[in-house]
Amino acid sequence: MRDTKSILLAGGAGYIGSHICVELLNRDNKYKVIVVDNFSNSNPKVLDRIKDITGKDVKFYEIDTRSNELEKVFKENKIDAVIDLAAYKAVGDSVKNPLKYYNNNLISQMNMLLLMKKYSVNNFVFSSSATVYGEVKADELPINENHPTSTTNPYGSTKLMGEQILQDCSISDPDFNCIVLRYFNPIGAHESGKIGEEAIGIPANVMPYITKVAIGELPYLNIFGNDYDTIDGTGVRDYIHVVDLAKGHVKALERLLNNRIGIEYFNLGAGKGFSVLELIHAFSRAYGKQIEYKIVDRRPGDAAIIYADPSKAKDILNWQVEYSLDDMCRDSWNWQSKNPNGYNI
Ligand code: UFG
Repeated sequence: MRDTKSILLAGGAGYIGSHICVELLNRDNKYKVIVVDNFSNSNPKVLDRIKDITGKDVKFYEIDTRSNELEKVFKENKIDAVIDLAAYKAVGDSVKNPLKYYNNNLISQMNMLLLMKKYSVNNFVFSSSATVYGEVKADELPINENHPTSTTNPYGSTKLMGEQILQDCSISDPDFNCIVLRYFNPIGAHESGKIGEEAIGIPANVMPYITKVAIGELPYLNIFGNDYDTIDGTGVRDYIHVVDLAKGHVKALERLLNNRIGIEYFNLGAGKGFSVLELIHAFSRAYGKQIEYKIVDRRPGDAAIIYADPSKAKDILNWQVEYSLDDMCRDSWNWQSKNPNGYNI
């Protein structure tokens, strides 16, 4: 009989978490998944969709990971590893409401780590971001994991502080086993079109904005500047299909469960940059019509170009992206067209 591992997925009902959940459940009973989420940026219906895709049930707790109730999850389950994605992630919102971000992102992480210690759970995968590389100069690209870290906004500070906390835990406790994953720009959706990114209100990120233009909810995309020193003047980012990102988590988990590594950091990106205009053109091909756009002023704080050096993840985790930009656009459109109102059909 196979040794099934129990994985606590905090924030597992969200955009990235739901895709990780599917990947774990699709691994032939290797993993049992326990999702904890407070639906602050997700929808309960995602759990039915996960079951539709995988045919499997997820054990679910509606809990804010900051609360004392989280202990119940550790009491009732023998957990082998935690993947922690329970955090707010909107850069602009974090500038307006810094305490909301420090409170939610750091207190939930602390609560989780304290309970892990108490219940001798040692394996931790942390959801971090390329934002920890701060301002990046063109001659520093592609960015590898040794690039100096800094932050430009409170959201980024919570991720950098989160990483620092984990580093200190790893120094103090030789049993603590941790992988920090620094995401670049996740877009796309599961190929079934049953799960994807549900943006509430006006989206802050480019792909959910484009898909809302495609369904007619917004008139056009505002492109934030076309005078950057890039291929066509618009910002360049490293877009990664969310299913590739999810698979990166499974690889990280495998490494943690089979090795004692202390703490390691990995970029999860495609290693290739595309401009906003290239993204619009790729999406328009998938959509079959042109996405309308207007050029507006630069967004304060935006870098011209950021893309990853993902070779460490390839060498050590045996992970690399499989999906192209066209695949990402096809799957984003498939999700949005099948679910114009997100999980509310
Ligand atoms: N953009 C537009 N119009 C929009 C939204 C974005 O032109 O309406 C442009 C941006 O200027 C940028 C590109 O599209 O050039 C991507 O912007 P996103 O907001 O989608 O993504 P960012 O790269 O700014 O932010 C992402 C994550 C953050 C993370 C950051 C740095 O969303 O969480 O990468 O790693 F902090």
